[in-house]
Amino acid sequence: MKKMVAPSLLAADFSNLSKDIEIVNQSEADWFHLDIMDGVFVPNISFGIPVVEAVKKHAQKPLDVHLMIVQPEKYITAFRDAGADLLNVHYEASPHLHRTVQEIHNAGMKAGVTINPHTPVALLEDIIEMVDLVLIMSVNPGFGGQKFIEHTFHRVEQLRNLINKKNSKALIEVDGGVSTDNSAQLYEAGADVLVSGSFIFKSDDPVQTISELKK
Ligand code: DX5
Ligand code: ZN
Repeated sequence: MKKMVAPSLLAADFSNLSKDIEIVNQSEADWFHLDIMDGVFVPNISFGIPVVEAVKKHAQKPLDVHLMIVQPEKYITAFRDAGADLLNVHYEASPHLHRTVQEIHNAGMKAGVTINPHTPVALLEDIIEMVDLVLIMSVNPGFGGQKFIEHTFHRVEQLRNLINKKNSKALIEVDGGVSTDNSAQLYEAGADVLVSGSFIFKSDDPVQTISELKK
């Protein structure tokens, strides 16, 4: 497993965002994770394209953009232009997922597919060879600071088996309630990338916390 960490800026201090971006730049983190919520697909609104653009100006690492929005296919080039390197769309919001993944690739980005806690891993069987990453939600999307769903370990194992069976190169990313209470077990189950928001930014020493999440 790769043991990568993508801090979620949802838990950062928006009144001093450049400070938290600098913390991530200086840390062992691999990517920035940006949560886009539209108040329709999920019951919360976060931030949008101008904030992604602003983060891009300071970020020295790739931007992993997690779209929790309906009709994500409408905004592919807009997020590419704003600076996304990897674009994650939800399986549940994408009736033409095959086309959407093609369009993300054609726009020059890596493509990720995200699944909610109730969506069976097996539904990815016919798309897994095409995607660069699968993001498994370990909470119901919409809010930071929620409790990790334990069943996620089993889902990561199922996905690892599917990836091996299909000879796919997709990375496995896990998002929601991630801390050092579950990070080692997630890597062991087959995860490559862990997203973490409140555990990192609410800690006394975020740089150190990021290092601990990579162990
Ligand atoms: C939840 C978001 C997550 C969130 C994670 O809908 O997708 O990325 O920011 O935050 P924590 O780590 O606090 O659960
Ligand atoms: Zn996220």
